[in-house]
Amino acid sequence: MKKLAAGNWKMNGSLAALTQVDALIAAEPAPECEMLLCPPATLIAPMTARAKGSRLWVGAQDCHAKAAGAHTGDLSAAMLVDAGASHVILGHSERRADHGESSELVRQKAEAALAAGLIAIVCIGETEAERDAGETLAVIGGQLDASVPAAATAANLVVAYEPVWAIGTGRTPTLAQIAEVHRFLRDRLGQNIGAEAAGVRLLYGGSVKPSNAAEIFALPDVDGALVGGASLKADDFAAIVAALSAA
Ligand code: PGA
Repeated sequence: MKKLAAGNWKMNGSLAALTQVDALIAAEPAPECEMLLCPPATLIAPMTARAKGSRLWVGAQDCHAKAAGAHTGDLSAAMLVDAGASHVILGHSERRADHGESSELVRQKAEAALAAGLIAIVCIGETEAERDAGETLAVIGGQLDASVPAAATAANLVVAYEPVWAIGTGRTPTLAQIAEVHRFLRDRLGQNIGAEAAGVRLLYGGSVKPSNAAEIFALPDVDGALVGGASLKADDFAAIVAALSAA
């Protein structure tokens, strides 16, 4: 399995920010792992053009569950492919919170993504209150069961474990907590999609930065990261990619 360093630019970036892509490609980090950036949809096509001939994949941050139709403001999975996307992040906690996305909707979106030939990066994670209440595994197990399509395989599914309280806060779970969740996810995924689960990349996300990346990547069943803030700067993201490549 090739490990995956994925960056999520969220609602940040402009054409001018694509110089960061040039810098990342120039740094040529890590032939040992895959490298992906998911910019706002407006930048998918220009970033794809900029990344041509490099090892950088370009992805999206969301898609609609339907293939086409009267859905003002939305984008279908096929449109993202048309713009150059290879992957799509689905069910990020910010979308679950800002747009009330349920795991059932995330699964429908993931089915649409797979049908269009995209790799779906399905995000799950507990809130701080849920962790404090000892509900972490129950919550993420339920999210996983409901969000992952039955047709998912090692080739078209990536799962990102992102504790909500660790996103953008500078706080991370302990290494033991991350390892516990990732082992649980591998087992649970096996109950859902069988032997394919062994090859599904399980990413950790939430305040990953150059200073903590190596210790997280050394954990069993951590096959990469989904990086927010630190993916906006080429130097930081290249350092994280290099740490993953060395793991
Ligand atoms: P962060 O975000 O790295 O800024 O914590 C991670 C994410 O939301 O994917």
